Amino acid sequence: MADKLRVMISEERISKRIKELAEQISRDYEGKSVHLVCILKGSAFFCCDLAKRITVPVTLDFMSVSSYGNETISSGRVRIVKDLDESIQGDDVLIIEDIIDSGRTLAYLMDLLGTRAPASLNICTLLDKPDRRVTDVYVKYVGFEIPDEFVVGYGLDFQQKYRNLPYVAVIE
Ligand code: IMP
Ligand code: MG
Repeated sequence: MADKLRVMISEERISKRIKELAEQISRDYEGKSVHLVCILKGSAFFCCDLAKRITVPVTLDFMSVSSYGNETISSGRVRIVKDLDESIQGDDVLIIEDIIDSGRTLAYLMDLLGTRAPASLNICTLLDKPDRRVTDVYVKYVGFEIPDEFVVGYGLDFQQKYRNLPYVAVIE
């Protein structure tokens, strides 16, 4: 049977918020360039839309980590599936994430990338579930704070499905 979806954040709201985030990032990185580290696969849609709206020079790299497998509960383990192609030494790095849940993935990535001597290192996430946090992690840019519900769409998946939905939805 097909899953029943309830829209939580519409395409219009996502697009409006991304424009605001891009304006804020462009102001904060004025006179510099920003190196976006897109965390595959979930952040790909968000990263592309955000990058197009940023007005300071942008460079991009991709990293793939796995903490979930096909489960909906964090295993607590983080494994690097694909590392960055290039050095980030001296770069103003902004990690682009789809959602922060327990915070374990980002805490791990901040530690790891922090050892590679970037000029600065910050996080931008489309979604944040603050109620679920088990690890302290400073997130500079947040698109939307959402309640503790499992969401799909706009890059987020359930068993690899629904990434292509243009909105964020809850499976009911
Ligand atoms: P954390 O390490 O617990 O913060 O997990 C973050 C990762 O878990 C995200 O990058 C997503 O891949 C996945 N995740 C957490 N919550 C959801 C959700 O509601 N829907 C889809 N994926 C989620
Ligand atoms: Mg993810």
